[in-house]
Amino acid sequence: MLWSILGIFTRTLFWFLVRTRIGRHALLDVSLGTVQIRNLMRRLDHMGKPEQLLYLDRWSLHSIMQKIILLRHDGGRGIDIVMTTSLSSDVPVGYFSWAEYDIMAPVQPKTENAIAAAFISNCGARNFRLQALEILEKAKIKIDSYGGCHRNRDGRVDKVEALRRYKFSFAFENSNEEDYVTEKFFQSLVAGSVPVVIGAPNIQDFAPAPGSYLHIKELKDAPEVAKTMKYLSENPVAYNKSLRWKYEGPSDSFKALVDMAAVHSSCRLCIHLATTIREKEEKSAGFKNRPCKCTRGSKTVYHLFVRERGRFEMVSIYLRKLTLEALESAIWTKFTSMNHVPIWKEERPESIRGGNELKIYRVYPVGMTQRQALYTFKFENDAALRSHVQSNPCAKFEVIFV
Ligand SMILES: *[C@@H]1O[C@H](CO)[C@@H](O)[C@H](O)[C@H]1NC(C)=O
Repeated sequence: MLWSILGIFTRTLFWFLVRTRIGRHALLDVSLGTVQIRNLMRRLDHMGKPEQLLYLDRWSLHSIMQKIILLRHDGGRGIDIVMTTSLSSDVPVGYFSWAEYDIMAPVQPKTENAIAAAFISNCGARNFRLQALEILEKAKIKIDSYGGCHRNRDGRVDKVEALRRYKFSFAFENSNEEDYVTEKFFQSLVAGSVPVVIGAPNIQDFAPAPGSYLHIKELKDAPEVAKTMKYLSENPVAYNKSLRWKYEGPSDSFKALVDMAAVHSSCRLCIHLATTIREKEEKSAGFKNRPCKCTRGSKTVYHLFVRERGRFEMVSIYLRKLTLEALESAIWTKFTSMNHVPIWKEERPESIRGGNELKIYRVYPVGMTQRQALYTFKFENDAALRSHVQSNPCAKFEVIFV
């Protein structure tokens, strides 16, 4: 009874929020059933919103999630957890994952006459992708088009199989929004066909290596990109360089991003919630305080907590010196002594799993978004770390291994 009342309340509120916040990231509410989500997606589609809720259909822990989400409405503050493709959302739900895309699949010979393949289902979009396509066509770039837009090839083919035969493929999104990078891009990577991107302005964050993609950021870039496509298609050595990552492996930054998806978004939601709940508990009066530092004479030992991204449980580390070097070294020693196996180990393609040695990629305070953790945050120096630990006794950190 209580659940259903809360359910109705939630839905009404959700609709209200979606209506008032349209044009920004869609809010996600798992208490909606599959049918409602489909309807919602259709409506968002009509309004030209990207399909940011795509993953919902596949969520398996649906009923558990429903309760967790509803629990969060107790304060009447409405929806306060946002899960979208944005790396700044509370729990990012991206299109990338090792499990879904065989990203390291070998490159195949480029046997088609046309240099690029397009799978664009409809010519309409909120960005300039149609105009860009026309500029490329005018520049005499030979394009095979399998989608509804400018079709000149039979579209009944396996998309990734077809892409493998082309030097380039168009990854034109419906909308140019930060972090909104869909299967269009990742399928091109699988196929070893250099993606020509119209979409997220920060596409470089999602690329396996610098130079592994071409970006039409604004319409005025299109002629230059056409020139580059021609040049690369006529120079096999230069072209092969854009696929170098297929032979030598992607950058650490790419691995660190895609590894995030080794933990399912529903689990990451649980971790996010459990972390918030635990923090609340620790602030309550009944909580038994842990010693956060211990001073003897002129020497102080600091007690800090660390966990791997994607896990909930923390382990203790003790620092005598509050320096960045000491922090990393203590984390490395602790996890190594525990024979820790990174959470992504089984997920990543074998060829890029690396050895058993742990390698730290990032360390950041718990509670930061993935955008901060992966791209924007850094303790500037030892003083910044010291000041953080002094104002956050028993400070908690998360570590990303690559
Ligand atoms: C491309 O480069 C890789 C090494 O980076 C090499 O193994 C491969 O044979 C090259 N392919 C072509 C078509 O040149």
